[in-house]
Amino acid sequence: MLYANGPSALLWAISILLGFGLMALADDTPCTLHHEGKYYNLNSLKASKDYEFKTPGGHSFYLNVCRRVTTEPWSTGVPDNVDIAGLVRKDHHDFVVGLVNTTLEMRGTDLMLHLSNGSPCPGEDNLYGSSSIRFLCDASVYGAGKPVVIFQFPEDDNQACQYTVEWRTHFACPTGERGLISGLIVFLVITIMIILMLLIVSSTLYSRFVLKKRGFDQLAQFSKIHLLELTEFCMELFRSAVDNVRSSANRWARSTGDLNPASHQWSSRDEEQAMMAADPLEDDHDQELQDTTMWRNDTAGGPQGAEFMGTIRS
Ligand SMILES: *[C@@H]1O[C@H](CO)[C@@H](O)[C@H](O)[C@H]1NC(C)=O
Repeated sequence: MLYANGPSALLWAISILLGFGLMALADDTPCTLHHEGKYYNLNSLKASKDYEFKTPGGHSFYLNVCRRVTTEPWSTGVPDNVDIAGLVRKDHHDFVVGLVNTTLEMRGTDLMLHLSNGSPCPGEDNLYGSSSIRFLCDASVYGAGKPVVIFQFPEDDNQACQYTVEWRTHFACPTGERGLISGLIVFLVITIMIILMLLIVSSTLYSRFVLKKRGFDQLAQFSKIHLLELTEFCMELFRSAVDNVRSSANRWARSTGDLNPASHQWSSRDEEQAMMAADPLEDDHDQELQDTTMWRNDTAGGPQGAEFMGTIRS
């Protein structure tokens, strides 16, 4: 278990935040696709009002992209809690042509969206409405463009169960990606702003509770002296965090029996400090320095002294 005092807990929190941010950046966003060095993003086609067009038999087809339809479905035969991506308003009911799928696929040169698990097909067991939407990059189409049903099976409008839709739009053209670098910069700026805010808050608290200032005096003041003080305070935080890491590494080393039993001597002052910091009862840096000094003065003789101290303190 990691033991962390207040300040270093803050540092841990910040590094965890950083880690999550980087993971989020690396993660692929829904409805986007990297393919052969190009980047496609259909999120701009998400619409607050469904795209409406006609089937070959003249029924209304309602479709949205990367989100559920806004049209109120009626008697579809699919559960209420699913995200319907599109539906055909047939004579006596709505037929769901598939559920929302945010995974794009490149088939040949076409950007495809596959929807499945729609309404049960008429007169078929275990067959459900599905559709393939083929997005064609057309830079001459301004706005979203208009989807067209180019194929349905069976052909009869009221029996139809599988649809192929073609959609010419400039949104299907590859775009420049919001690159990893610029994303990283945005993320860093936000992180720095958060840290600055934390600094101002902690500096105010420091003024109020440590320096016992009141009124306007307790507000963060970035005079040179104050800044120096604060820097020192932060250095202290950093040092205690490093100590924490060292001590856990040390404990790990101890648990794997990695200490040299023959010499049993500390090779450096760093290790000595790390051992001190590893003591779970140790919570004060000043105390630690004091202990180290005592140890140096009184028990320079050898490891027995250290063990002795350990016994007293534990
Ligand atoms: C979503 O689309 C992907 C890519 O085309 C496909 O492999 C997957 O089966 C689809 N999922 C559903 C539930 O339709």
